[in-house]
Amino acid sequence: MLAIALFLVATSVAHDGDDHNSSAYALTDDLSYDNFFDAFDFFSGPDPTNGFVQYPNLTAAIDQGLVGYLEDTRSVFMGVDYTNKDPKGRASVRLESKKNWNKGLLIADILHMPSSKCGVWPAWWLLGKEEWPAGGEIDLVEGVNDYENNAVTLHTTKGCVVDNSTSPTGGSGQADDLSRTFTGNLATKDCDVTATDQDKNVGCSIKAPAETSPIQMGTGDSIEQTALPSYGTNFNKANGGIYAMEWSSTSISVWFLPRDSPLYTSTPISTAPDPKQWGTPLAHFAGNGCDFEAQFKDLRVIFNVAFCGDWAGKEWDKSCAKKTGVSTCEAYVQNNPDAFKESYWELKTLKWYQQKPASPA
Ligand SMILES: *[C@@H]1O[C@H](CO)[C@@H](O)[C@H](O)[C@H]1NC(C)=O
Ligand SMILES: *[C@@H]1O[C@H](CO)[C@@H](O)[C@H](O)[C@H]1NC(C)=O
Repeated sequence: MLAIALFLVATSVAHDGDDHNSSAYALTDDLSYDNFFDAFDFFSGPDPTNGFVQYPNLTAAIDQGLVGYLEDTRSVFMGVDYTNKDPKGRASVRLESKKNWNKGLLIADILHMPSSKCGVWPAWWLLGKEEWPAGGEIDLVEGVNDYENNAVTLHTTKGCVVDNSTSPTGGSGQADDLSRTFTGNLATKDCDVTATDQDKNVGCSIKAPAETSPIQMGTGDSIEQTALPSYGTNFNKANGGIYAMEWSSTSISVWFLPRDSPLYTSTPISTAPDPKQWGTPLAHFAGNGCDFEAQFKDLRVIFNVAFCGDWAGKEWDKSCAKKTGVSTCEAYVQNNPDAFKESYWELKTLKWYQQKPASPA
């Protein structure tokens, strides 16, 4: 059982942003137990992705017990309703950061995310303020229904095609080949949502590695595990971990360090972050085919949990109709509230860093 302390602290505690180390990054925003919700707006309109979901405002979300700070773990909780059978859709939250961002390093220490359940569509992502997809969209953690692996996806206007540098020709072809630029699998390479040789709106996407293979942890060690626990139920079994994104003028990279991985325990990931120490990222979008400066601008950070809609609903027949014995996503989500008890995000911290100016000679 979760003991949820529902309160909001009016004054933010001053966080020590000073890091006494050689990191190229300086901490600018440190969101956690006592100040997280202050940095976000609660989106309360109809779901833009046509989901079977209702997003309340801040006051209503607190009243319904959907958000709060957890005292025991000193963490941030964002959940969904798991008791009611509202025919208008399941209550959930969609939080959007008040600030917009340009480049830098974003690190989240995540303890729990919505588990791999039919009907659910969780996402941690970044979105531009211009008319979509101008300004870009970066989906850092996203999946639907019973998915077990994360996919990192970019959505842009025309003129952003990324390189696939995982092919054996790039290096020795060994499973632990460090010359590979990412460990995931590039499913689609054109980030343009109107690309004619891809399905509409898919963008460019890198799927987290799913097959059994030694996972290179970057320090020379490799650990054997069946799959990187990058998403949903697997992620929660591993007690989550750190997701980090480095966004520069020429690339966007994403790492996932499971809580038990040697890197998580041996390097000060969130106090003195140095992406160079983290080994091959899960996803790395780069190449001359994309002008990252022009395509990605003023992005806000979003956490949400949707149900059904344009993705989870569209894929209902893939495996969930059979698995649940219910023919539509909406009917299942409406009538089985207790299936969504685990559909919550729990975060320890969310931190933004900006590149330090070069020191004067
Ligand atoms: C929040 O939502 C509730 C329920 O819909 C509504 O009664 C209230 O006026 C809203 N509050 C604000 C500040 O918009
Ligand atoms: C990228 O390379 C990998 C490994 O060779 C291959 O499996 C994958 O299909 C390629 N992706 C694209 C979009 O070409």
